[in-house]
Amino acid sequence: MTIKKVCCLGAGYVGGPTCSIMAYKCPDIQVIVVDKSKQRIDEWNSDVLPIYEPGLDEVVKQCRGKNLHFSTEIETAIKEADLIFISVNTPTKTFGYGKGKAADLKYVELAARDIVETVESGFKIVVEKSTVPVKAAESISTILHSKQKAGVEFQVLSNPEFLAEGSAITDLLHAERVLIGGEQSPKGKLAIGALSWIYQHWIPEEKILTMDTWSSELSKLAANAFLAQRISSINALTPLCEETGADVSEVAKAIGKDSRIGSKFLQASVGFGGSCFQKDILNLVYICESLGLQEVAAYWNSVIVINDYQKRRFSLRIVHRLFNTVTDKRISILGFAFKKNTGDTRESAAIHLSKHLMDENAKLAIYDPKVDKQQILDDLSHPYISEDPSRVARLVTIHQSAYEAGQGSHALVICTEWDEFVKLDFRRMYEIMEKPAFVFDGRKILDHEALISIGFEVETIGKRF
Ligand code: NAD
Ligand code: UGA
Repeated sequence: MTIKKVCCLGAGYVGGPTCSIMAYKCPDIQVIVVDKSKQRIDEWNSDVLPIYEPGLDEVVKQCRGKNLHFSTEIETAIKEADLIFISVNTPTKTFGYGKGKAADLKYVELAARDIVETVESGFKIVVEKSTVPVKAAESISTILHSKQKAGVEFQVLSNPEFLAEGSAITDLLHAERVLIGGEQSPKGKLAIGALSWIYQHWIPEEKILTMDTWSSELSKLAANAFLAQRISSINALTPLCEETGADVSEVAKAIGKDSRIGSKFLQASVGFGGSCFQKDILNLVYICESLGLQEVAAYWNSVIVINDYQKRRFSLRIVHRLFNTVTDKRISILGFAFKKNTGDTRESAAIHLSKHLMDENAKLAIYDPKVDKQQILDDLSHPYISEDPSRVARLVTIHQSAYEAGQGSHALVICTEWDEFVKLDFRRMYEIMEKPAFVFDGRKILDHEALISIGFEVETIGKRF
């Protein structure tokens, strides 16, 4: 079977970049990305894309209007496509059964319903790209088959995405593996072959793993759980280092040289953020609890417990070092995105840190090179963060540069590892700050000895000065 038209439901951080690369590498395929949000689609069709991702602009500019289209015409796109990706959001449920843990599959289910109600004829491959609980493909399949019209046939595949934000384009172009799960029947294998053919336009065949649907779905949750577990493991050593005088970077270097452990993802930090690690682990925990696997659930949940502890611990250290009071003190928050090279703030450690400091009535001067002012204000005004949203207007200012934020502040708090923070002129910064001038490096990116020689009081993660 040859795929000529692909449609993707969801023009987000995954749907947008994934389909852009697909169009870029498959000139023989028409790719149309649709979304319910008109604003998002308008942005994809404009000069300022809705997400910041290095290299994305060039790819979109090259393909848009040729074999890459962004549209709100969902029905037409579904009708015409041979293969439909479901790449919609799967947030943690905030209500009802499983609240705070289970994945909210509302958008996935609605997407499946849109598909079955729209398709009128032919063999359609529906690909679950969103991260979902194990057996979600079965639910999608049940919905599709329950209302399937005569002459229509569906095959559901699982094809989880492993890109990381900030490096999405490189990750997609040079994927270490592509995972495709599907039914092990002749029709299932036909569908797997068709999706595999698309990826083979740029990914070597041996890197395309095919397996049953449930293993594929679980592999995605497991991969994120393992990655987050490494961060919590190194972060769990940081208080020990601070108490004993060991340096966590040296410990990470030493253990990372063991090829069985490896050196990646051992960067101690103020805590991991992002839309997926916490959500996917909570989902895993919920699945384990639902199956009565309490010990397994507790094991994975400890990854989140350590992450929360790490974020809380860092903000307590700031208050403690600033003589146990930050009331009315100006504190510069440098970086608000959950990691560098993205404007995404979902679950960013900076939000939680800011909350704790606002709870102490600190005045926050925030700067991030890629996050919109309104996004920061919205994040901090969320009812989970500020019961009284007026406190944001009272306590928070957003700035156009690190120096503007640093002016007159008692402390700089590095929350995101942006390269430009490493290159700051810290002598100039020291001059414009209140004294004693503190630096709290939550990312371990600065030259601490140099800062101390300028006169700064320095605190970082996993090292005592
Ligand atoms: P997102 O919120 O950025 O985008 C989802 C989009 O889907 C939204 O624009 C929303 O309007 C749209 N949408 C919802 N229902 C729709 C429907 N029925 N039809 C058309 N559009 C619809 O989410 P995201 O970050 O792209 O994540 C999508 C999925 O991919 C999630 O399951 C996530 O866990 C997973 N994932 C994300 C990343 C990442 O780096 N963000 C990486 C791997 C996997
Ligand atoms: C992560 C995974 O890396 C992707 O493979 C996966 O596809 C994606 O989740 C997803 O499912 O959404 P992402 O969250 O975009 O990608 O970014 P990461 O590079 O994994 O960073 C996550 C968080 O961990 C960031 O806050 C980062 O600063 C932090 N981190 C990362 C550390 O604190 N230390 C490290 O050593 C690495």
